[in-house]
Amino acid sequence: MPDVRSGVGEEPGDRPSAWWHGTVGYEIYIRSFQDSDGDGVGDLEGIRRRLPYLAELGIDLVWITPFYPSPQADHGYDVADYVDVDPTFGDLADLDRVVSDCHDLGMRLVIDLVPNHSSSEHPWFRAALAGDPHYRDHYVWADPAPDGGPPNNWVSNFGGPAWTLDERSGQYYMHLFLPEQPDLNWANPAVHDEFDRILRFWFERGVDGVRIDVAHSLTEDPQLRDNPRRAALPPAGAAPSEVWDAYEHRFDQDQADVLDVFRRWNALAAEHDAFLVGEVYLLEPDLLTRYVADQDGLHSSFAFPALRTAWDAGDIRTTLGACVTAGAGALSWPLSSHDDPHAASRFGGGDRGRRRQLAYLTLLCALPGIPFLFQGDELGLENGVVAAGHAADPMAVRNPGAAGRDGSRTPMVWEPGPGFGFTTGEPWLPFGSNRRDEDTVAAQLQQPDSHLDRTRRLLALRRELAPCWDDGASVTWLEATEDVVALQRGDTLVALNAGETAARVRLPDAGRWHPRYASSGGIPEVADGAVVVAPDAAVLLVTASPSAS
Ligand code: NOJ
Repeated sequence: MPDVRSGVGEEPGDRPSAWWHGTVGYEIYIRSFQDSDGDGVGDLEGIRRRLPYLAELGIDLVWITPFYPSPQADHGYDVADYVDVDPTFGDLADLDRVVSDCHDLGMRLVIDLVPNHSSSEHPWFRAALAGDPHYRDHYVWADPAPDGGPPNNWVSNFGGPAWTLDERSGQYYMHLFLPEQPDLNWANPAVHDEFDRILRFWFERGVDGVRIDVAHSLTEDPQLRDNPRRAALPPAGAAPSEVWDAYEHRFDQDQADVLDVFRRWNALAAEHDAFLVGEVYLLEPDLLTRYVADQDGLHSSFAFPALRTAWDAGDIRTTLGACVTAGAGALSWPLSSHDDPHAASRFGGGDRGRRRQLAYLTLLCALPGIPFLFQGDELGLENGVVAAGHAADPMAVRNPGAAGRDGSRTPMVWEPGPGFGFTTGEPWLPFGSNRRDEDTVAAQLQQPDSHLDRTRRLLALRRELAPCWDDGASVTWLEATEDVVALQRGDTLVALNAGETAARVRLPDAGRWHPRYASSGGIPEVADGAVVVAPDAAVLLVTASPSAS
């Protein structure tokens, strides 16, 4: 068995490197990955049984979405107890087995920490509602505006005001998401102490790190000032995201003092060699810098602008380039996520969408930082098509007409058959009318050169190359034609062709380069100092065959 403590990404030479450098991550949406007991909902034992599949795929770091006791108003992102497991998903012993099997397979386990808000069913909030002053101050309260309405103009990400009136006390409490997700008050030192205890609990159990939910929004303006408007408000009934985008979020997110929380956690994580990766959902690349650049806060932050690129070489180059510059080598690159469409859908769907997805992953794999696949990406899955009557995402349920997140959350397809190997029962969310037997893991394992096979070969190559790269943002973007994005990182060169016809990409210092991978299959040809890249594909070349670490 590989020794996880030796670190898959150690640098050549004497300099020891953090274990997460050079890793590849994989997001598991627990409700939809693998059901082991036939209730139609994924669980920890289901995950444990599939860990060998992830190790074979070439994953180093597994992130599991929340499994804590929860009323599931936001499918687990409403936590009623931060140090236990919801019976739907198993128990603490199941979690211990997941940790231990992950380590035996040479992988690391990252769990989801939800510190911005708890569930309204959490004993802290119940005590707060009952008037207990200690717990009251765990949340954000304010008196009504003079007209009796909400204290300011802040809005919830899920629609409506970010404030709900507590009739008993006559005060409003704040919630950037559902009313069932009251925001915690990070201006209160007692909340810091609570989360120190929570982090220690999990790190002492062997968990290797945390993905921090809504990391950019933990603290807010102490004066609770109105956000400036940047556009006219959309008409009533508009999607919550349109209302959200009409404001400049100057006072309800991205406050300077949030870094104090992460500096404290950085010291705590260091005691356990644990990893902190933030969901810093800020779409201006520059804003990411503060969270990661000083290296005494978060170890990494997801780069969400990477989820918004059009299939356009110029846009990809500009967006990823700005992120690389801002991220100082410390970004995580999501290919898709449980909140966003699968990349194959985003890039147009069908065979074309799948081809583009793998080309994009090839590029992400060469960037400094950690590429993250979302479950099913390795199969080239598109979003599942879920009929409106089956909507489960609270965003869609509470805002009829708004695009919900169910499409990316439909259950994994492991093998042909009625429950696709995911469940023997009725799945909590339909698989999607567009799922086919040939999409499944079992079918793709039988098919030479499948999407799964090409993804595995890519990840194996990245594992071979990563030890030769330094941690810094040492990317050189190469001059290329309009449809091509090309970069060089040390001894590696990747060229992506977003155009509709094959592109000849001229290689700098041509004789040095050996083609190793093409997302379109086969090995690319180099002729006359150029490599030919198929449309909607990427190729990877190296200067020499680096020795495997
Ligand atoms: C981000 C999570 O990824 C999302 O699923 C959730 O709804 C919100 N944070 C609120 O916790």
